[in-house]
Amino acid sequence: MKTGRLILLTATALVMIGLDSCGTNKAKEMVTTEDFGSFEGKEVFLYTLTNKQGDIIKLTNYGATIVEISVPDRDGNKANVTFGYDSFDGYLNGDLYFGKVVGQYANRIAKGKFTLDDVEYTLALNNGPNTLHGGPTGWHSRVWTAEVLKNTDYPAVKFTYNKPDMEEGYPGNVVAEVVYTWTDDNEIIMDYKVTTDRRTVLNITNHAYFNLHGAGVGDILDHEVLIRASAFTPVDSTLIPTGELRPVEGTPFDFRTPHLVGERIGEEYDQLVLGGGYDHNFVLDNVEQVDAEVYDPSTGRVLQVITDQPGVQLYTGNFLNGTQTGRGGKVYQYRSGLCLETQHYPDSPNQASFPSVILTPEEPFLTSTTYKFGVR
Ligand code: BGC
Repeated sequence: MKTGRLILLTATALVMIGLDSCGTNKAKEMVTTEDFGSFEGKEVFLYTLTNKQGDIIKLTNYGATIVEISVPDRDGNKANVTFGYDSFDGYLNGDLYFGKVVGQYANRIAKGKFTLDDVEYTLALNNGPNTLHGGPTGWHSRVWTAEVLKNTDYPAVKFTYNKPDMEEGYPGNVVAEVVYTWTDDNEIIMDYKVTTDRRTVLNITNHAYFNLHGAGVGDILDHEVLIRASAFTPVDSTLIPTGELRPVEGTPFDFRTPHLVGERIGEEYDQLVLGGGYDHNFVLDNVEQVDAEVYDPSTGRVLQVITDQPGVQLYTGNFLNGTQTGRGGKVYQYRSGLCLETQHYPDSPNQASFPSVILTPEEPFLTSTTYKFGVR
């Protein structure tokens, strides 16, 4: 019995070593790099990550961006389910943050002002009276340095951006890193690390848009959404939180059980009217492994979102209007994509009751979000 078990264990170990070294070698080969363009004298690349299932994601170091996610439906037919552009020019001209990493402060800061340690900082206004997504030349519009990681179990690329002190009005020489890992279970794991040499404020997210039919194919009103959040942060007419944490119970914001996006989006509920649909931060319960899920009954595709961030912005593409032509010539129409931007709450620097977004030199900000694709 003991001997039998030992043989079994040894055999298992050998298989594991074999798989591991095979996986490691493969991980290196499974990232290919091609030229994508250049910007401000820096080279921009397109990275293709292929996992053992043969499914791919594409990334670029311009904005540390997810360009493409090609995954099967329940019959095995693959489609790209995220918004992106075919060429680098698309990224230079597009302003809707497709797949980008957004910083230094994702989402809105009221009137472009905040006070930290008795000093008032003023930011550029790029969204009516407010600052949105780190300002006009935020991290989404920068060329990040890139490193294809070696000796990893899965294909992985690390992007780094060194943000100079006071760029876009934010204090601190800040170093932002994001590692994208594409696992054999079709998970995009995004591990972020951000450090500063001076106290500052930070909110970082990925701004991917999803359409599980395939990007550019119909709208997302027939997608079923689950969000494990018992409250959300209502907004004013400029989409700045009022400070209230409103229970979702009895409102069209209750996604604790799955609902179609289109089921209640047209209701005359104050927040849906103000937001032009869903464009709100949900206060995550953070109690279960999966924080949010999107399911497309027609293709069977499922997206699960797993995060340690305290909030997620559900944005239902209310400002999309068919002016953007994406990969494969697909046009992105009104409400043809949705975002689940894991984040701290909007305007936290001005909202004392919200969780702190102060980054200090003493403690790096570490956070991880996973987008996992499957079928049902
Ligand atoms: C915001 C929307 C905004 C969009 C821009 C979202 O995060 O909540 O209001 O229009 O980003 O792409």
